[in-house]
Amino acid sequence: MSKRVFIKTFGCQMNEYDSQKMADLLHSVHGMQTVERPEEADLLLMNTCSVREKASEKLFSELGRWRELKEARPEVVIGVGGCVASQEGTAIFERAPYVDLVFGPQTLHRLPELFTAVAAGRKKLIDVSFPEIEKFDRLPEPRADGPTAYVSIMEGCSKYCTFCVVPYTRGEEFSRPFDDVIAEIHALASQGVREVTLLGQNVNAYRGPMSDGRLIDLPALIRFVAAIKGIERIRYTTSHPIEFSQRLIDVYALEPKLVSHVHLPVQSGSDRILALMKRGHTTLEYLSKIRALRKIRPDISISSDFIVGFPGETQTDFDATMNLIDQVDFDYSFSFIYSPRPGTPASGLSDTLTLLEKKHRLAILQRRIEELGREKSHGMIGSRQRVLVTRPSRKNQEELAARTDNNRIVNFAGPADLIGQFIEVEIVEAHANSLRGRFLNSVKKAS
Ligand code: SAM
Ligand code: F3S
Repeated sequence: MSKRVFIKTFGCQMNEYDSQKMADLLHSVHGMQTVERPEEADLLLMNTCSVREKASEKLFSELGRWRELKEARPEVVIGVGGCVASQEGTAIFERAPYVDLVFGPQTLHRLPELFTAVAAGRKKLIDVSFPEIEKFDRLPEPRADGPTAYVSIMEGCSKYCTFCVVPYTRGEEFSRPFDDVIAEIHALASQGVREVTLLGQNVNAYRGPMSDGRLIDLPALIRFVAAIKGIERIRYTTSHPIEFSQRLIDVYALEPKLVSHVHLPVQSGSDRILALMKRGHTTLEYLSKIRALRKIRPDISISSDFIVGFPGETQTDFDATMNLIDQVDFDYSFSFIYSPRPGTPASGLSDTLTLLEKKHRLAILQRRIEELGREKSHGMIGSRQRVLVTRPSRKNQEELAARTDNNRIVNFAGPADLIGQFIEVEIVEAHANSLRGRFLNSVKKAS
């Protein structure tokens, strides 16, 4: 019987993509099947996130549960990958001695060999190096799972924001060759994928080598992706404000397949804090990019990330963030209390704000963000939306779920054969996390 793997994923879309690739690799090399329950697996993998302390602590609480499975079946292999693996290295073996292998985000392609070696009785193995070029070269043909797919186009980050571990855990920016990206999207489109999300920690820093040695940037790549037969919708995430060029803004005028939604993390609305974070721009520069974008797409939805309680954040700094939120009129956003990460420059800054005050500021910010999101959802009631039907609805299997341009889920009643198609719905209700729609008609393909 073929072996079975269970993969638990924490963190960002990059990790989701990497987990999918781990499953594909283990399937293609060892014929392994992915299972939904850890009790059924021969190989237990955890793909971790270390962006905030809470995320990295989850690893050890989950591993505690897996320890019991290994005690019952000692032949089970436990592996830890992702950013915590990269950061902690052998310390994971010390804290959780029942772990067999540790691998980083850049060495997941070596997983089949690592598994073979551990299963053959070799002791614990660790590989958290950064052989970046190799990773993408050794990935198998992508396997589509529904009409939407992530495609990683670059890895790592060279921005070194003072609070962030990513440059240390994933390494510096590295762009995948243009031909490889295009080949992967062709393969996905031929399996029914209609919407791709181009991924990278700093996706708009993409500078992929072409076969003639020239480099191609994200705006140009988007035009090529849009020309691929079957691809009807293009997203990208996460972008950085300093790489948000006029060329990228201009693509919104040229390319209707590029969605009217952009995730552009700003972190703070205070120039003083932005400088301490080493973000490389001011609030005015951020606002001027948004203005240029809205000139082309007046209705574009803009989401962001915020960090509250960065060391030294005063009430005036926080007020400036609240002010920016209202000025930009963000759609939805992710917000976090600053979490000091070992080895980052900001972790050495003195932090005098109490946790209570940080929580208070976070609650104020989140309330405002939710209010703005709710207003936008309510404003959509009565409108006709072109949506991609992605799957059966989670709450009611008789219904279907679809996604709008601005990344909202719409549940509606309709026949299952609409999955994978673009349709038009009328929005009839707005709820906290989704919309309810009425099926109007199928939409003709743009290509
Ligand atoms: N590339 C993105 C950008 O342009 O900012 C960010 C990627 S980062 C992995 C995702 C988000 O996690 C950041 O935007 C930030 O809001 C949050 N984050 C990162 N480090 C953090 C920390 N030490 N404490 C709290 N939040 C953090
Ligand atoms: Fe992190 Fe800043 Fe890069 S938030 S991922 S170092 S852009």
